[in-house]
Amino acid sequence: MPILALESSCDETAAAICTPEGTLLASRIASQAEIHRRYGGVVPEVASRNHILHVRPLVQEVLEEAGLALGEITAFAATSGPGLVSSLLIGTSMAKALAVAEKKPFLAVNHMEGHLLSPFMGGQGPVRPSVALIVSGGHTMLVQVKSVGEYILLGRTRDDAAGEAFDKVAKMIGLPYPGGPEIDKQARQGNPRAFAFPRSFMDGESLEFSFSGLKTAVLYELPKLNLEDPTVLADVCASVQEAIIEVLVEKLVLAARQTGETLVTVSGGVSCNRGLREKLMARCEKEKLTLLLAKPDLCTDNAGMIAYAASQRFQLGQSSALEADVDPNLAL
Ligand code: KG4
Ligand code: ZN
Repeated sequence: MPILALESSCDETAAAICTPEGTLLASRIASQAEIHRRYGGVVPEVASRNHILHVRPLVQEVLEEAGLALGEITAFAATSGPGLVSSLLIGTSMAKALAVAEKKPFLAVNHMEGHLLSPFMGGQGPVRPSVALIVSGGHTMLVQVKSVGEYILLGRTRDDAAGEAFDKVAKMIGLPYPGGPEIDKQARQGNPRAFAFPRSFMDGESLEFSFSGLKTAVLYELPKLNLEDPTVLADVCASVQEAIIEVLVEKLVLAARQTGETLVTVSGGVSCNRGLREKLMARCEKEKLTLLLAKPDLCTDNAGMIAYAASQRFQLGQSSALEADVDPNLAL
């Protein structure tokens, strides 16, 4: 009883098939990163045009990879928000068309729920009470998970998301888009204590985030720096990364303490970051917290996590109306 899901909320077109129990049978991504790199960020119209080109071949590819015929798919799902409206429309329109043609249910999936549940994939399930940190290009959130569909927002960013902070700083210091992986790479050679960049809302019990001050601090530092010197560049990257991950790790530990949860999960594009993963493992061990990290290939946008979230909803007997619209600002 497999579910086929499509993801097209931003600049990756992706398709995946998983069983209702959440076993991934096939997953493919057509990345547009090279195309958008020329513009220094995602151009919505260019993204949606490329989704149109990629979506149908991807459906065929995942069916072949899973060894399934279209008629063997039980339900069709797609990301319906949050994201770029012109991009969301491509995946949802295709999934709805397939559902209508095959007379099967359609499921609209919240992209953030995809990220949120991704650490439970690959045999780490079932989804159970926990505190989740979701760190992506558009969002930074702490969420208490009671069960599938029962989520309490504990805190979020007041300005830039963590991934956005990585990307904006990277652009300022001349690194290509997307900046997160570039800073991660440079940071490995640098000294994280070379520059004391600000950490916001660190005193007290706040679970809110703010990363715009960091960006400004780097901007003020720029005229004094010789970024041609590889050591300086690496030190800036290591120090920026340290400032971001220290806040993320400490707030996650604080959220666990405040809620009394002992299971913590981390997902979203920024959770690929090697420094963050290392610090999380060390800190959670010290705090006696069980840590579930999304697997690196499930951290950045993919349809596997959308198929998994759809499978969890489908198991609860849920599906969506074909009239269900996309929502660029869909809340969790
Ligand atoms: O989850 P995602 O693929 O897309 C959104 O839903 O936003 O996250 C993309 C973000 C980008 O800001 C990218 O720079 C960041 O994740 N990212 C990283 C790393 N890999 C991706 N940030 C830091 N270190 C990385 N290794
Ligand atoms: Zn995402």
